[in-house]
Amino acid sequence: MKVRDFLLERYFAKYEFSVRHMLSASDCETLSVRELMEGADAEVEGLWKELRLSYTESRGHPALLREIARETGLSADEAIVLNPEEGIFLTLNSLLDRDDHVVVLSPCYQSLYEIPKSLGCEVTRWYLKKEDGEWTLDLPFLEKAVKENTRLVIINFPHNPTGFLPSIEQMNAIAELSVKKGFFVFSDEMYRGLEHDPEDRLPSAPALIRRSVALGGLSKAYGLPGLRIGWITSTDRWLLDRIAALKDYTTICSSAPSEILAIAALRRSGELADRCRGIVRENLELARSFFREFSGRFEWFEPRGSSVAFPRLLGGQSVKDFCERAVTERNLMILPDCVFDVDWNHFRVGLGRRAFPEALSVLRELLD
Ligand SMILES: Cc1ncc(COP(=O)(O)O)c(C=O)c1O
Repeated sequence: MKVRDFLLERYFAKYEFSVRHMLSASDCETLSVRELMEGADAEVEGLWKELRLSYTESRGHPALLREIARETGLSADEAIVLNPEEGIFLTLNSLLDRDDHVVVLSPCYQSLYEIPKSLGCEVTRWYLKKEDGEWTLDLPFLEKAVKENTRLVIINFPHNPTGFLPSIEQMNAIAELSVKKGFFVFSDEMYRGLEHDPEDRLPSAPALIRRSVALGGLSKAYGLPGLRIGWITSTDRWLLDRIAALKDYTTICSSAPSEILAIAALRRSGELADRCRGIVRENLELARSFFREFSGRFEWFEPRGSSVAFPRLLGGQSVKDFCERAVTERNLMILPDCVFDVDWNHFRVGLGRRAFPEALSVLRELLD
């Protein structure tokens, strides 16, 4: 398989563990194993203590599948447990063939378009638009972009890197178009649970769109990326069987300790997501007033969900130089938009970490 380097992951690999300050992480403040297990019920505590480190069930621990079913509104046999990035890889490899046409909401996490490209698919990028300081969805573009051979439309809500979240009416419009034009929908829901107003939370795609598959996981909204636990859900049994068969060539099964910790997490999912959303909300207020104060230097675009935002640098300096200066002069990592394959002079801000106020004050020093 020939695939281009993953620009964002290469950037993180270079700086994530060496810089002192991080402004652009997309995950939320994590928990220790002790903190997670302190809240566990007696059954999970028993599973953890008696855990034997053997191979596990390929589709996932039955108790974990039940928790995922509760979380997503599907049934346990409509889910497979896997590593989130693996979920993208296996699903796209299962669904797509050479010369299929794929429409990908953009800018986005690179594997969502790079894997289709590596499989020989034709990829159309469907960019979010900017209107009055907000991100908007261009549904007429999607309607025009879909062709005879469009096999798949890939969406990601709440959206990385903009924090965009559509209305239920917009999601229904995508569902209707999917029926009318016959395409499948891949819905990346890694940030589901991080809607800034919980009232805006959308149903998971398979509950809305008949021919769809969704990716969820514990990395973002629950603050547990180190578990490497995610899930694919769909009502399409053929697709799930295909993904399960391909998984034999990647990880075979998930890590036994991670599965038990994931059960512990999902039994407290409301509480863990509230905790992450609380951190994001506090940081978002700080970010808003900071970018208002420096409105001559930045253009702010209000996010409605996720743990990220995507403001624009004004004033003629290239965002790439700006990010390079931040890292060399202030030990501060800021993610430039080139890692999302766009050249709009935007950068990503990560709102999920407790050290965000400190990182923002380092950015202030850089501006001063
Ligand atoms: C939109 C999106 N999908 C999938 C992933 C992959 O999640 P993980 O890093 O937990 O494998 C990420 C990670 O940043 C993401 O932002």
